[in-house]
Amino acid sequence: MNELLAQRYQTAELLGTGGAAAVYRATDQNLGRDVAVKVFNPSTSDDDDYRRQHTETMLLATLNHPGLVTLHDAGLHEDESGRTTSFLVMELVDGRDLRKLLKAERLEPFEVAQLGADLADALAYVHSQGVIHRDVKPANILLFRAGEQDTRLYSKLTDFGIARMVDATTATATGATIGTANYLSPEQAHGTTVDYRSDIYSLGLVLLECLTGQKAFPGAVVEAAVARLLRDPEVPESLGPVWVPLLTSMTARSPLGRPDAHEVALALREFTDDDASGPVSGSGAGQPRPGEVSPDLSEPTTGGIVTGGITTGNVYIPAPPAHAPTLG
Ligand SMILES: Nc1ncnc2c1ncn2[C@@H]1O[C@H](COP(=O)(O)OP(=O)(O)O)[C@@H](O)[C@H]1O
Ligand SMILES: [Mg+2]
Repeated sequence: MNELLAQRYQTAELLGTGGAAAVYRATDQNLGRDVAVKVFNPSTSDDDDYRRQHTETMLLATLNHPGLVTLHDAGLHEDESGRTTSFLVMELVDGRDLRKLLKAERLEPFEVAQLGADLADALAYVHSQGVIHRDVKPANILLFRAGEQDTRLYSKLTDFGIARMVDATTATATGATIGTANYLSPEQAHGTTVDYRSDIYSLGLVLLECLTGQKAFPGAVVEAAVARLLRDPEVPESLGPVWVPLLTSMTARSPLGRPDAHEVALALREFTDDDASGPVSGSGAGQPRPGEVSPDLSEPTTGGIVTGGITTGNVYIPAPPAHAPTLG
């Protein structure tokens, strides 16, 4: 795409596509820097699409965390055929998404722990703001090194297209019509009430896939969605005494059996901090000390975490207009 959006953003190469949009590298001519522009598929007739775009814009505008992409701007654009599209201008994450990375290479267990801890921190923040992401999957996780000589990978969660406020009446929507079903929680697949622990399940499947190189529930939409209602994902014993209990609890079929995001972050940070070789090395340093590594579900650390319902001082997402706006 080679267009000047809002007389400011000169779009260039395609960075990636998803179910709803295409993301391009672009130059912000006012500030002379590169950004990422997410151009939504035209939505002249589908108000559902428009509502998703509106949700993503308003949510991203209120959220601010190093583990989330930063929203810079939003606007509308009319393409050559006269169709109106909306776009988001985001921080450019100059790296790869996890889906592409996993196709090409494997991560070391300690890198998976680092990535998992970063994402769990981001989710703890998101959940504390009363928001459920609902679409945690490799294509929505961006990985990068901030500087050429960085000694670690950083990760950011993107794509709040189907995120919801915790108590939104629409929170039961499955999201199965959008993109892949491989990472849905059982409650999403089932269409029952979804709370923030749905994101924990999805993150558990993502981390499991990073470690094993295999999708826990492969296959087409219906097949993959139904499988998790019938069985738990297989967590190989060979992953060792840190990963097995953590991933097993994260992917518990009952949301009540899952740790919260902060507990996941604490468990993973434990061994990223003190053992660079990771928990499956058998070196001894990464072995769990009793009661330390696997989250203690009897004493949840709920500091700042939503425990159902919206906390006071929460972000307020105004209802979108009934119809997509048109230019002019
Ligand atoms: N800020 C960004 N910087 C770099 N690449 C991005 C950025 N945001 C998204 N991408 C790439 O574009 C793809 C689609 O973006 P996403 O927001 O997930 O769109 P969709 O809502 O259509 O799924 C991602 O999987 C990723 O590869
Ligand atoms: Mg996406």
